[in-house]
Amino acid sequence: LHVNWDMTAAKKGGYPHFMLKEIHEQPDSLRNTILPRIQNKLPDFTADNIPDSLFDGITRIVITACGTAMHAGLIGRAMLEKLLRLPVTVEVASEFRYQDPIIDKNTLVITISQSGETADTLAALKLSRERGASTLSIVNVKGSSIARESDYVLYTHAGPEIAVASTKAYTAQLACLYLLAFRFGFATGKLEKEVCMDEMQQLLSIIPAVEETLAQDKVIEEISKQLTEKEDLFFIGRGLDYALSCEGSIKLKEISYIHSEAYAAGELKHGTLSLVTEGVPVVALATQQKVYSKMISNIREVKARNAFVILITIDGQEAEPSIYDYHISLPEIKDDYAPFLAAVVLQLLAYYTSLHRGLNVDQPRNLAKSVTVE
Ligand code: G6P
Repeated sequence: LHVNWDMTAAKKGGYPHFMLKEIHEQPDSLRNTILPRIQNKLPDFTADNIPDSLFDGITRIVITACGTAMHAGLIGRAMLEKLLRLPVTVEVASEFRYQDPIIDKNTLVITISQSGETADTLAALKLSRERGASTLSIVNVKGSSIARESDYVLYTHAGPEIAVASTKAYTAQLACLYLLAFRFGFATGKLEKEVCMDEMQQLLSIIPAVEETLAQDKVIEEISKQLTEKEDLFFIGRGLDYALSCEGSIKLKEISYIHSEAYAAGELKHGTLSLVTEGVPVVALATQQKVYSKMISNIREVKARNAFVILITIDGQEAEPSIYDYHISLPEIKDDYAPFLAAVVLQLLAYYTSLHRGLNVDQPRNLAKSVTVE
């Protein structure tokens, strides 16, 4: 008996590409990242060997990372600042390492890396340690260089990520940043027990909501077919949706080779609007209730220039059909948790656009999964 055994195909578990497999693994990777960190309905890092004393006396937080991991940091910053009322900055590691950063023993430096081997992120971490900061890394690969060099590690239990475009690691990084904000807040008395429990509940609720979002896979594929011939595309959003726009844009660029830009929607009129002409696609993220009406005004502005609008909102939000060409509605969820769902939509949009352009989804030209050189 002769069996034709294709190891790579086997590892893809029936999916045509690693990227699609990894996108669909997100409910599991989120479960694996969040569940082991719950004790009595509260966030708990005992098994991670992260003591609450780490948070004592911290007056500032610096997040440093590259690429998608840096974009996770942008979302994390919002949550950390909101719950802790401490200043948080997000620095691109390749810039941070060559600056003269203001960090001291009262600074917590959080490095984020899927591989744990990115040269610039590792150098930023070493610099932070030299300057006396406390360091914590959010890393996917066990025992990697960044994990070994950090005072503390909070692992994303996302499992191996093979596709160059990072997907499940990103949402697991978000989950770790949220857990960190909760534990930090609880340990320092900034977050009351009930409030902390409620946030944990909401974080858990993203798992079924991500499953529901994944069920829109085929709808998103249909929409992506409208993008395959396009040359330029814009992602717009406000608040968390702007941070997410940055991630949506990099994902699309990486694998579809379509030029795209992320813009804070309120900034459109200060430049980008001149590029929005008939048929130019604009992915408009409007998942944040607190700025919803502002966002709708911005969408009207691009629609008035005959842009091709793909609107993303949360269930229950009214949106007049005249302002969009396609509308994706996500399961009802509070503002702070919407990024987990919107991320899935943007990942699928990038995946199917690349697929229908006939490109190498898992291994895009010129890019590497892990950048261990400067
Ligand atoms: C490379 C990858 C990106 C990734 C970035 C940071 O550019 O192609 O997908 O976001 O490195 O990688 P890291 O392993 O540090 O998260």
